[in-house]
Amino acid sequence: MDHFLYRDGVLHAEDVPVAEIAAQVGTPFYLYSTATLTRHFTLFDEALSGMPHMVCYAMKAASNQAILRTLADLGAGMDVVSGGEYARARAAGVPGDRIVFSGVGKTEEEMRMALEGGIRQFNLESEPEMERLSRIASSMGVEVPVTVRVNPDVDAKTHAKIATGKSENKFGIPISRAKEVYARIKDLPGLKAVGIDVHIGSQLTDLEPYRQAFLKVGELTDALRAEGHEIQRLDLGGGLGIPYTRSNEAPPLPSQYGDLIRETLGDKGCEIEIEPGRLVAGNAGIMVSRVIYVKSGEGRDFLILDGAMNDLIRPAMYDAHHDIVPVVEPAPGTEQQPYDIVGPVCESGDTFAKQRMMPPLAEGDLVAFRSAGAYGAVMSSEYNTRPLIPEVLVKGDQFAVIRPRPSFDDIINRDTLPSWL
Ligand code: LLP
Repeated sequence: MDHFLYRDGVLHAEDVPVAEIAAQVGTPFYLYSTATLTRHFTLFDEALSGMPHMVCYAMKAASNQAILRTLADLGAGMDVVSGGEYARARAAGVPGDRIVFSGVGKTEEEMRMALEGGIRQFNLESEPEMERLSRIASSMGVEVPVTVRVNPDVDAKTHAKIATGKSENKFGIPISRAKEVYARIKDLPGLKAVGIDVHIGSQLTDLEPYRQAFLKVGELTDALRAEGHEIQRLDLGGGLGIPYTRSNEAPPLPSQYGDLIRETLGDKGCEIEIEPGRLVAGNAGIMVSRVIYVKSGEGRDFLILDGAMNDLIRPAMYDAHHDIVPVVEPAPGTEQQPYDIVGPVCESGDTFAKQRMMPPLAEGDLVAFRSAGAYGAVMSSEYNTRPLIPEVLVKGDQFAVIRPRPSFDDIINRDTLPSWL
């Protein structure tokens, strides 16, 4: 459920007409709903009720300060994967002891930054990383809580580019080697193993792969405890999918996911951490764009929008489907027609949808890409020197620009000329 609904024939974000924001901010832009963000975070929090838990929002999904602050005010922890994300989380007021640090390639600089600023735990992904963190933490005279990300070798049944829990993926250490690795950590100064971490992929629409992974984590918890390790936390990653189309079968609900966790791991007496990103932010955001031209091609009509692949890369990168809806609601019974919906970037890959049935649209009309709140703005670029598009946040009847559109000068002035030019 989200808060982008037609009211009086026009799309609203909560209580604000989307066209009003477009008139003030210009297009294209991202638009987020506070009520939807809040609702989705709260669903996860409630799904884990009765178990000690922390919902660590995977901020890679959408990392604007205003989004982070909104979630932090609800008690969210953060899952970060870079020094930049760590800095952003801290700047948004998230205390270090609510931040978990994931990722396969943490640098020495990033480790120091988190150790100095405070961290809840590092989720370690390899032995070289353990050795490095041990060296740095012990040189700083601290002992840092760690988990090891285990790769349970389950098929998450999602897009190959976002599956992470198969043995051929670069993530984690094989679960079969976990005992050996935890034994090694015991010998390493500066590290204290406090739990186990797992994350099998993103946009999962079936709970079965989770069940398999969680059962394996449960067995490992028992096995490690039998060897004297104090396993107190289980970080179960993120990955729960969202409905990208209104017609498709709905993915499992956070409450069902919570029930599965309770059923498979509830008896372990561990604090449960989860790292949802997409389900918190995905349907809490839309991208609003304007039709520049309607072009008749051979046997097809193109809707050429002012938004492009650099603004929303998911269709080009993952063949992802985003519902695209007109901002002015079509009159009941309006006949639809097929369009190829494209952006202005000089690549054929700059195609959002082919032969998509839409009501007839004309130059100047506004459209909204649904489900664009996660992995939208954060994956955008300035390819073709198209400025990063603004982000806007709505709350009730108020809205605010939370990242302004840079000017061309802002972009040009980031470059510097060498002395010989
Ligand atoms: N935790 C870890 C360790 C992760 O790698 C990820 C996502 C998450 C949590 C959050 O997963 P979520 O709940 O958002 O599914 N750019 C792709 C998605 C990449 C996901 C990467 N890792 C897309 O646009 O579909």
